[in-house]
Amino acid sequence: MANQLIWQDRFNIGVDIIDNEHKKLFGILNRMFAYKTDDSKKQWLCQEGIKYFKDHAMKHFTEEEQYMASIDYAGFETHRHVHDNFRRKTLPALEAELTQSSFSNDAIDHFLGVCAGWLLGHTVTEDRAITGKVTSKWVDLLPEDQQSAMRNMIIQLLADMFQLKARVVSDCYGGEKFGNGVYYRLVYGSDKGERWETILGFEEKLLLSTIGGMMNIESEEVSVMLINIARYMAQQFVQRIKEWFPSSESYEMKEERLLSYEQFKKNFARERPQSSFLFDTGKGYFAYCVIAPHLLGNTQIVGDGTVIKAENAMSEIKNYLKENEASHRKKILIVDDSEVIRKAMKDLLGRDYAVTLAKSGISAIRIMSAEKPDLILLDYEMPICNGCQMLEMIRSEDDLADIPVFFLTGNVARETVQKVISLKPAGYLVKSLKPAEIKKSIDDYMKKRAEA
Ligand code: FEO
Repeated sequence: MANQLIWQDRFNIGVDIIDNEHKKLFGILNRMFAYKTDDSKKQWLCQEGIKYFKDHAMKHFTEEEQYMASIDYAGFETHRHVHDNFRRKTLPALEAELTQSSFSNDAIDHFLGVCAGWLLGHTVTEDRAITGKVTSKWVDLLPEDQQSAMRNMIIQLLADMFQLKARVVSDCYGGEKFGNGVYYRLVYGSDKGERWETILGFEEKLLLSTIGGMMNIESEEVSVMLINIARYMAQQFVQRIKEWFPSSESYEMKEERLLSYEQFKKNFARERPQSSFLFDTGKGYFAYCVIAPHLLGNTQIVGDGTVIKAENAMSEIKNYLKENEASHRKKILIVDDSEVIRKAMKDLLGRDYAVTLAKSGISAIRIMSAEKPDLILLDYEMPICNGCQMLEMIRSEDDLADIPVFFLTGNVARETVQKVISLKPAGYLVKSLKPAEIKKSIDDYMKKRAEA
């Protein structure tokens, strides 16, 4: 299913010229998400869609800046800096990656993920701050000379330690998703109870090609050993940056955690970063964020994630990888009133997919809205609300309509299913098929969609 940005009333800032343009930008990105999975339209996305989005974003920034100037908005300079960052660094870096990779799927994913995350994050924070609905997230950035020193230092370290030639994608990185990642948070504290934190985000393929390459690890999966090496290299990385800033000398490492993407993203909602960069290294994306909560009067260590200690490192990292891997797995919702079938399907698919079960149409709708599964397997012959009625409901809901649905039928019901062909089921599976055949059909379908 294609990703979609859902517009909500609370995003409105109350200025028509700005709100309308935000909705338009959401719409353009949604069209690009939809076209990404449609071969016949992908060319439009690459040749026209990206330019169309960029032109609209530029026009919108100019209009919004004119509005901010007209009301003497106190946060104008900071807000313009965030716009400048996006128009002068983020968009050109993403476009360069697209061109250099001949519009690879990875580069398209980076473009859509970073732009959608940026637009959503920026609209709900910075833009709403214009009319006083929230407080700006970027008011506590380090002074420009320190920002620039840190940025250059990171680029130099990436070259020294990993032989990477990094390009800045963003100087105001707000946690936008750039692919499957590993997020490592280091907390440092001083005797006076002050603390600062650094979060390093590695795209998995970057870890595999750099550290995996150095260690001659051929696996295509991030392992406990690889994470352990990454932890120690990351600590040295931060130490080198720390030495460069004399004021941080008295700080010692107090805690380290591994975070899921959702946990990583929460940091940006909870605390304002003093420095936050996203880099394209050519082999994967790398994020480096610094948060000094004591500057904001907050000295408690908070946040979730897996705390890593010497005595539990092996088992905790193993658990982290398991959960992280599960969060990358495609989601399948199985809707069937028979407990036997639900259990059999879960046993069959639970190893490779994140499976959720529902025993009725009503509970399925609730789960669908919350989880947005990648595929629904729907019993055709359920009581009360049968599969056909369910599919009709799914197709009538804007944010569910694109989810592919396979009917599960108790017998060879080709004719029956043909009757509802206008509702566009993605296929149907006869329950009496051998489990391996059912699994193969689903694997083939998911593979085809992933390649689209
Ligand atoms: Fe609506 Fe600040 O961009």
